Amino acid sequence: MDDPSGRLTKDGIRIYERGDFAGMAAAGAIAARILDEVAPLVQPGVTTASLDEFIEARVAELGATSATIGYRGYQHASCISVNHVVCHGIPGPKVLKDGDILNIDVTVILDGWFGDTSRMYVAGALSRKSERLLQVTHDALMLGIEQVRPGNTFGDIGHAIQTYVEAQRMSVVRDFCGHGVGKVFHAPPNVLHYGRKGSGAVLEEGMIFTIEPMVNLGRPETKVLADDWTAVTRDKSLSAQFEHSVGVTGDGVEIFTLSPTGRFHPTWG
Ligand code: MF3
Ligand code: CO
Ligand code: CO
Repeated sequence: MDDPSGRLTKDGIRIYERGDFAGMAAAGAIAARILDEVAPLVQPGVTTASLDEFIEARVAELGATSATIGYRGYQHASCISVNHVVCHGIPGPKVLKDGDILNIDVTVILDGWFGDTSRMYVAGALSRKSERLLQVTHDALMLGIEQVRPGNTFGDIGHAIQTYVEAQRMSVVRDFCGHGVGKVFHAPPNVLHYGRKGSGAVLEEGMIFTIEPMVNLGRPETKVLADDWTAVTRDKSLSAQFEHSVGVTGDGVEIFTLSPTGRFHPTWG
């Protein structure tokens, strides 16, 4: 890592300086823009590999680099997780069919800053059941983000997400979590999407991390397939995820990966 600014808390969480947020905003804007641009390409009949090729090309054209290509042997510019795939789906020859729901997750590096974001798409028509899953997952992310301010705790974020999702009779995945981000891809803390109010580290101005809840229509358990990446629901139920990279400001939160065209959810725009 090139000479990170700021200091570490006793929990090993980096406190960035106020001026650093501009770098995160620039990286986040590129990742979010690419997620906007790929939306019209998500159609029945296309392969997930074709979507990834578009993403890889746009990362380069926009002057960034992919954080995922070469990361622990991963070879693609995105993760594309279809239907019961929870996360880390590998783009490939799989052809999308009408009604498939999918998460596309892109992380770019710009000037050393990592912008990490994902959102949901649908190929063709969205079923009522899928629409509800997507809405609940999106709202869970935003309720988690609403808890981000100095003095609140990471447990407050997880608690807000878990109580909302479970009240909708859906489940929160425990096996994957959000993470510190900034000048590195994955740093402390683990940002859990479940938990108790007031538990965990206290949020401080200058912290930068992701919130990326995965929500299942069925049970929360997952398993990783033989490719060592693809995580699926054990009960084959549908799963959804939305992710933002955020920073703690003096009195709240800055979201670095907002959609520049307001298209963060497939039923918008
Ligand atoms: N972007 C993912 C995250 O939200 C990580 C993907 S790592 C990969 O943390 F290697 F699978 F691409
Ligand atoms: Co992430
Ligand atoms: Co991500």
